[in-house]
Amino acid sequence: MKLSRINGPLKGELNVPGDKSISHRSIMLGAIAEGVTEIRGFLKSADCIHTIGCFKAMGVDIEEEEDVIRVKGAGLRGLAAPSSPLDCGNSGTTMRLISGILSGQAFPTRLIGDSSLSRRPMKRIISPLTAMGALISSENGSGCAPLSIKPSELKGADIHIPIASAQVKSAVLLSALYAEGETVLTEPVLSRNHTELMLSSFGADISPGSLDSPTVSLRPGNMLKAQSITVPGDISSAAYFLGAALMVPESEVLLKNVGINPTRDGIIRVLKAMGADLTFLNEKTAAGERRADILVRYSELKGTEIGGSLIPSLIDEIPLIAVIATRAEGDTVIRDAAELKVKESDRIKLTTENLRRMGADVEATSDGMVIHGPTPLHHAVIETAKDHRIAMSFSIAALASSDARQTEIKDAACVSISYPGFFGDLDSLKDSPLSPHILVHRQEP
Ligand code: S3P
Repeated sequence: MKLSRINGPLKGELNVPGDKSISHRSIMLGAIAEGVTEIRGFLKSADCIHTIGCFKAMGVDIEEEEDVIRVKGAGLRGLAAPSSPLDCGNSGTTMRLISGILSGQAFPTRLIGDSSLSRRPMKRIISPLTAMGALISSENGSGCAPLSIKPSELKGADIHIPIASAQVKSAVLLSALYAEGETVLTEPVLSRNHTELMLSSFGADISPGSLDSPTVSLRPGNMLKAQSITVPGDISSAAYFLGAALMVPESEVLLKNVGINPTRDGIIRVLKAMGADLTFLNEKTAAGERRADILVRYSELKGTEIGGSLIPSLIDEIPLIAVIATRAEGDTVIRDAAELKVKESDRIKLTTENLRRMGADVEATSDGMVIHGPTPLHHAVIETAKDHRIAMSFSIAALASSDARQTEIKDAACVSISYPGFFGDLDSLKDSPLSPHILVHRQEP
């Protein structure tokens, strides 16, 4: 994909697609609940389609219509043995979360993934699940996929995980549904809590943790009851348009119905600290998940420091934040983010190398990076390693570049992992008129 700098501002409004984390969980809980779960706003991206595929392979009837997905729940004990290995594609969320459910089944399973997923660390779920009695192993002994899971008796346990990770926490909580006795899990900082919120609405006996006390406990025994779920827009997808509007002068964009769960809103807090003009409109909460329309206007930005407990709430947005930081006056320092090295690619390496290719003044550190701004960005050839977040972050950098030549984003089709319509949505903001919502909002004092 070749992208040119944009000559005019970005204007208009957009409904970004459904939240990826919530979409995965809605299929998983729907599949093991009693009754029919209806999901609206589901993200039809490659990752979430792999989750659907895994549960269909275990006999779950999943009806996919244009606007609604219907999952006919098999109940906690109603999944059937698949006839071949379950393919998780590129999706770490699918592999890690489903391992928790599979550890409690009466049949063996194998989990496989693509070459990127087969390099990602799985010991982080193997260890706590083993502590609960699961028979789960890395088949080649590398600590990575393929994984083999055999039937076992699970016991509730007191688990402390060393890194804040919603995927590890969720694997443990899902296996705890099948264990004898209570499971208590403590993480260093509260990671995204969509599993806890959704388990609670499905009727599980769960006491969620909080930002002040990141300990969650679950007592097995309750059956899960099917729910109607409306998935909010994904803040991680909305982030690219926040970035684009903040980097292209005179832009003004309204992003509608975006999930703003406090365990995911780090990008908002950071952009506000950098001086971004962001306004929340129509805030509401449904099924425990906060949502709002976000109005973003082009702003002059200043550098900031990002680390500590903020990191889990914006981990997927860091490549984009680094791109935006090239526009900010002064240094932006990102630390405590070594997890970036084990995402779909090594995101510290790829982000800093690509930024340098575009002319930015940036250094990689062992757990983050430092961006010295402001520097103009120029065209380049961008290596993505088929990492969707790198491809989208650098598409925004290309739009905001200062020379007229095109930037090439290699393997740009990988955006379909989380956002199949990304380039179309970006185009739709290029010559759009101002929306009535924005005009009305402008007249307010
Ligand atoms: C996710 C959790 C995060 C995040 C990933 C989605 C989830 O990973 O980076 O994109 O849906 O639970 P970790 O739990 O490994 O931090």
